[in-house]
Amino acid sequence: MRAATYEKLADADGRVTDRLIELYEAIARGGAGLIITGYALVHPSGRATPRMLSIHAESFIEGLRELTDSVHREGGVIAVQLVHGGRYCPPLLLGGKPPIAPSEMYDRFTRMNSRAMTEAEIWTVIDAFADAAWRARAAGFDALELHAAHGYLISSFLSPYTNLRDDYWGGDEERRSHFAEEVLKAVRNAVGSDYPVLIKINADDLVEGGLKPDESLRYIRRLEPLGLDAVEISGGVREARVKTIRPDIHRPEEEAYFRDAGKLFKDNLSLPVILTGGMRSRDVMEGVLESKEADLVGISRPLIREPDLPNLMREGKEKADCISCNKCTRFNKIDYVRCMQIKE
Ligand SMILES: Cc1cc2nc3c(=O)[nH]c(=O)nc-3n(C[C@H](O)[C@H](O)[C@H](O)COP(=O)(O)O)c2cc1C
Repeated sequence: MRAATYEKLADADGRVTDRLIELYEAIARGGAGLIITGYALVHPSGRATPRMLSIHAESFIEGLRELTDSVHREGGVIAVQLVHGGRYCPPLLLGGKPPIAPSEMYDRFTRMNSRAMTEAEIWTVIDAFADAAWRARAAGFDALELHAAHGYLISSFLSPYTNLRDDYWGGDEERRSHFAEEVLKAVRNAVGSDYPVLIKINADDLVEGGLKPDESLRYIRRLEPLGLDAVEISGGVREARVKTIRPDIHRPEEEAYFRDAGKLFKDNLSLPVILTGGMRSRDVMEGVLESKEADLVGISRPLIREPDLPNLMREGKEKADCISCNKCTRFNKIDYVRCMQIKE
């Protein structure tokens, strides 16, 4: 699976561009089993990065339809990832306003306190996820994935590290799960019972006081009966010392860095489990599948360098060329996301 990867290739409003379509065609031709888009914005208050994809109004459907048609023509299957950026949205992208989040909290990246959402704002964003889900289906996506990982809005409601509320939306584990539950219920209602809905969740926030694997697993158990079709495991929030997108993965032991969580989730769930994070060699990927640590593996950075990696591996290639230098993640410095090891 091509794990969700923001490309900085939508236009300034978040509309699909020709270059974005060309990229997805290349990924589809390259043999990925399922393609997840870069995160797509469900509400203007959740804009996390410039030129991210948008799905927050009807006017985006036409461009998204072109994207899904192109992928389908190439034989691909594509899901859109829905996001609200929450406390990570830079005020510059919010007309100078502070980002909204479950609780007021300083963030050293935005250099600002987030503002705690009101009850009305919470329901507005839940509705925005549902409307975006309906648009996803209307635009021809084969599935959607809720981005509930990495410290963005849904993730920050689930996490005891960022959710300091004491009301229906926070205060203990059960109440911290309500936002994700209400989003999933509303989304399920919008797309119907026969449409695949995936979720990407942190098994571990990798910060003190953050979400841990057991709690994360319990959240998935609560969400599953509301209509979940698969769970993708990731981890880390921005301030974590050990990163979501880990650099310098060279040895097999450094690959598949959330595989323990994969095992925990696989052993305790009947849902399909997707494991993402540091998969580089065919041996490790096959090992993860064979030892039942996941049903699917997700890769992001290797496909930035080699969009046709799945086919190359089918033909015998053993290891991705990606060296995990992470230069592709310097979003402020690069004009769009590409492998900086390859000279243009
Ligand atoms: C350039 C870039 C953009 C990313 N954008 C997203 C995103 O939009 N949504 C998301 O859930 N994860 C995003 N990620 C994280 C990846 O999906 C993945 O979890 C992480 O990179 C680890 O997998 P890898 O070792 O295969 O790169 C991004 C990663 C990179 C490198």
